Amino acid sequence: MTLKKQSILVAGGGSTFTPGIIMMLLENLEIFPIRQIKFYDNDEERQKQIADAVEIVLKERAPEIEFLATTDPETAFTDIDFVMAHIRVGKYAMREQDEKIPLKYGVIGQETCGPGGISYGMRSIGGVLELIDYMEQYSPDAWMLNYSNPAAIVAEATRKLKPNSKIINICDMPVGIEHRMAEILGLKSRKDMTVRYYGLNHFGWWTDIRDKDGNDLMPAIKKHVAEHGYVTPGELEGTPGEDIEPSWMHTYGKAKETFALDPNTLPNTYLKYYLFPQDEAEKANPEYTRANEVMDNREKQVFSECNRISTIKTAEDAKLVTDDHASYIVDLARAIAYNTHERMLLIVPNDGAISNFDPTAMVEIPCIVGSNGPETINQGEIPRFQKGLMEQQVAVEKLVVEAWEEKSYQKLWQALTVSKIVPNARVAREILDDLIVANKGFWPELS
Ligand code: NAD
Ligand code: G6P
Ligand code: MN
Repeated sequence: MTLKKQSILVAGGGSTFTPGIIMMLLENLEIFPIRQIKFYDNDEERQKQIADAVEIVLKERAPEIEFLATTDPETAFTDIDFVMAHIRVGKYAMREQDEKIPLKYGVIGQETCGPGGISYGMRSIGGVLELIDYMEQYSPDAWMLNYSNPAAIVAEATRKLKPNSKIINICDMPVGIEHRMAEILGLKSRKDMTVRYYGLNHFGWWTDIRDKDGNDLMPAIKKHVAEHGYVTPGELEGTPGEDIEPSWMHTYGKAKETFALDPNTLPNTYLKYYLFPQDEAEKANPEYTRANEVMDNREKQVFSECNRISTIKTAEDAKLVTDDHASYIVDLARAIAYNTHERMLLIVPNDGAISNFDPTAMVEIPCIVGSNGPETINQGEIPRFQKGLMEQQVAVEKLVVEAWEEKSYQKLWQALTVSKIVPNARVAREILDDLIVANKGFWPELS
C-alpha cells in the first residue's frame, strides 16, 4: 500500500526543538512520507536561522520535499495536513521573569508549574488559539499536535474555548521517563512496555507497567526508583552518555522522594514542584534559573550549529539530532494519518475515564489513536491522595482559563492562591502584582 504523502507545518519554526523534529521526520520518511514542510513563526529573524540550515539539510537528504519558512499565516497554514505546534509566547526573556519573580518571594518559579506556569499560561492561551483559528481558516481538515506549554492550561483553554477543534495536546515527559525505565530494566525500547497512567499534565502516576507477555515490570522499576529515582544505571556508573544538565539530573534523582509518598505508583518527576516546593526554592539561584541554563546551553548550541551549517553551506557533518520529543510527535501523526491505533499518553477530556474525577478536567491518560483522533482507555477509580492533589491542581488550571476569558484579576489571584506551590493569599497577591507589570502587552488587561 502506498502511504499518502503529508504536508507538515511547524508552528514555532524558530524553536530550539525544530531541528530535532526535522531530523526525526527525515529518519521516518518510509513510514511517514512527506511532500512538503513549512515553518511559521512570528519572529522572522529567529526562524530564519533555523530555516536556512534546515533548507540545506533537506536539499542534501530529501530534495523531493518542498520547503518554505514564512511569517504570513495564510501562506503557512494553506494546504496542510498536520500543524506541529511548539510556540513560546514571550520567549526565554519572559520565561526568565516567570522563574525569577516568584523567587523574590521565596517561591519556586518554573516554566509550567506554580506561578511561573500560570504566568506563561496567561501568555500562551491567546497564541495557541490564534494558531487554531489560522488552521481552521486555511486548512480545516488538518490536525494540530500541540506541545506548546503550559500544556495543562493550554489544553483546558482549547477544551473550553475551541471545543470542536482538531487539536491534541501532548507532553514528552512521560515518554522521557519511560525511556529511563526501559534503561533501568535493560529493555531495548520503551515500546516494549505497555503502561497504565493517570493524572494531569506534569502531574501524574504510572499504576501498571508490563512487557509484551504481560509480565509485571513495576517491582523491578520500583526497586530502582526507591534507591536512585530515575537516574539510570549508566548515569550512576558515570558512563558518558547524553549530556544531561545538572538541573535535570537533580529532577531525576528527586523522584526517589516523590515515590516514597506512594509506593504503589511511579510518579512523574514534576510532582517534585508540588510536593517539595520549599526544597526547590531553597536550591534555586535567583540570579540564574533554568531559563538562563537553557539560553546558555540548548539555545546556543542549536543556533550556533544552524548558523555554522548556513555558513559552510553543507549539513554533511551536522550535529543536529533527533530526540524523545520529536519521535513521539511522529508516532502521533502516523496514528492519525494511517489509522495505526497506536496506544499513547495524551491530554484529553476525562469524560469518565477516571471514574471518580471531574469529567470536564483535561487529564493525561493512555488513548488509542486512529484516524478520527484519540479514544480514551478507562483508568477506573483513583486513590484519595492523588485525587485530592489533582482536584486542587485542576482548580488552578480552570481558574486561569476563566481569568483569561473574563479578564478577571480576582480569579487569577484565586488561581495563584489555590496552587499548592504558593504559601498563602498575600504572597499570591504580591507575586501576581509583579507578574502583571512584567507581562504587560502579553496578558489581557485584568480588572
Ligand atoms: P523557543 O523560544 O526556542 O521557541 C519558540 C518559538 O515560538 C520562537 O521562535 C518564538 O518566536 C515563537 N513564537 C512565540 N510566540 C509565537 C506566536 N504567537 N506565533 C508564532 N510563533 C511564536 O522555545 P523552546 O524552548 O524551543 O520551546 C518551544 C515550546 O515547546 C515551549 O512552549 C516549550 O514549553 C514546549 N515544549 C513542550 C514540551 C512538552 O512536553 N509539551 C516539551 C518540550 C518543549
Ligand atoms: C520536559 C517537559 C516539557 C518541558 C521540557 C523542556 O520535557 O515535559 O514540558 O518544556 O521538559 O524543559 P527545559 O527546561 O529543558 O526547557
Ligand atoms: Mn511536558
